[in-house]
Amino acid sequence: MLSLLNLGQAMAFFRRSQLPDKDSLTPLYAMICEQIHKEGPISVEAFMRLVLHHPVFGYYRQGLPVGLDGDFSTGPEHSQMFGEMIGVWCFETWQAIGKPTSFALLELGPGRGTLMKSLLSGTSARQDFHDAIQLYLLESNVTFRQMQQERLAPYKFMHLDSLDDLPPLPLLVIGNEFFDTFPMRQFIRLSRGWRERAIGLKHGRLVFCDIAIRHEEAVILDPKAKKGQIVETSPQSLDVVRCLSRHMATHGGAGVLIDYGYDVPTGEDTLFALREHKHTDVLSKPGETDVTGDVDFSALRRTAEEEGLRVWGPVGQGAFFSQMGIHIRALQLRRNSPTHAAEIDEELYRLIHPAVMGTWFKVLGLSRQNFSHFPGFPEHKQN
Ligand SMILES: C[S@@+](CC[C@H](N)C(=O)[O-])C[C@H]1O[C@@H](n2cnc3c(N)ncnc32)[C@H](O)[C@@H]1O
Repeated sequence: MLSLLNLGQAMAFFRRSQLPDKDSLTPLYAMICEQIHKEGPISVEAFMRLVLHHPVFGYYRQGLPVGLDGDFSTGPEHSQMFGEMIGVWCFETWQAIGKPTSFALLELGPGRGTLMKSLLSGTSARQDFHDAIQLYLLESNVTFRQMQQERLAPYKFMHLDSLDDLPPLPLLVIGNEFFDTFPMRQFIRLSRGWRERAIGLKHGRLVFCDIAIRHEEAVILDPKAKKGQIVETSPQSLDVVRCLSRHMATHGGAGVLIDYGYDVPTGEDTLFALREHKHTDVLSKPGETDVTGDVDFSALRRTAEEEGLRVWGPVGQGAFFSQMGIHIRALQLRRNSPTHAAEIDEELYRLIHPAVMGTWFKVLGLSRQNFSHFPGFPEHKQN
């Protein structure tokens, strides 16, 4: 990986070559161009790893991308009902696993800490539940970590550096828009066979291209696939699910993973980029643009099942929240604050309607095999 020390060298590269448009120029743009110039094209996965997670200039290592003043907003940032419904899920699931007097509650990628704040305040009347919580947050962004310290100050919690540091306790794990931050590989079927989508350089500018893949990878891809078909895979996401599943299989527990994505791969390119709440060019302003793609829930499900877990859904976020009682909560909020009725209706619509977040956003449930009812999932949706 390129280091900060390479930056001067990378900028020198631009002095020697044709400059890209000023808008695209960021320290990472220069560093990536220099690397490609020296070593050849890099895969989409390597590009995403750099632009999202570079230790100094990566998108998730600096600033505060989430929120109305960031590049995108999330369900918990739009409505307290999001975190409250996840709180109801946690409470009911804690009861379903036999009310352990101590359990680990883990949030993956808590961002501004808003979901957790709503979850904890929404369940504050359940003292026995609160007494049993050992709270853990997995967060790589230093600025978010500080914000979580401030916003969750009344509660005791620990930041985890690695999932291996989880205590040997039953685990309830929640994660919203966490898996869409992981790099993905894209394989593309071309007339000369399967290749990997990559980023190269043309006249000093970053462009999409393709690179060869290993024979062992090519043979597992469908030889009859249509030209242009794309297969996406996120090995790092599967590692996380594997680790969480092993913990739950050993110590008990359950989880809900929420994200945008598909249950059945469509063969299409789902890579996209967001900046200041608008879609933008994936290759522009690396490190200052969110580059993301749809989560492949079928792969997450397969991985958890391979580790012996029972997997529920995915179901649409709208169906999940409706099952958890969001309509009743909206009614209560409207009654308590009639002047905010229109806002509450708008929040409800955004979270559950198929035209907004209701179906593109999905919820995958993980539990041990002996679970017979999983809160939030209609019985007929069981797998
Ligand atoms: C898209 S944001 C979602 C934030 C929050 N869950 C929400 O719904 O508002 C992704 C979050 O995951 C964190 N994150 C991304 N990659 C991570 C990693 N590898 N380890 C830990 N946290 C990570 C980001 O810093 C951010 O807090």
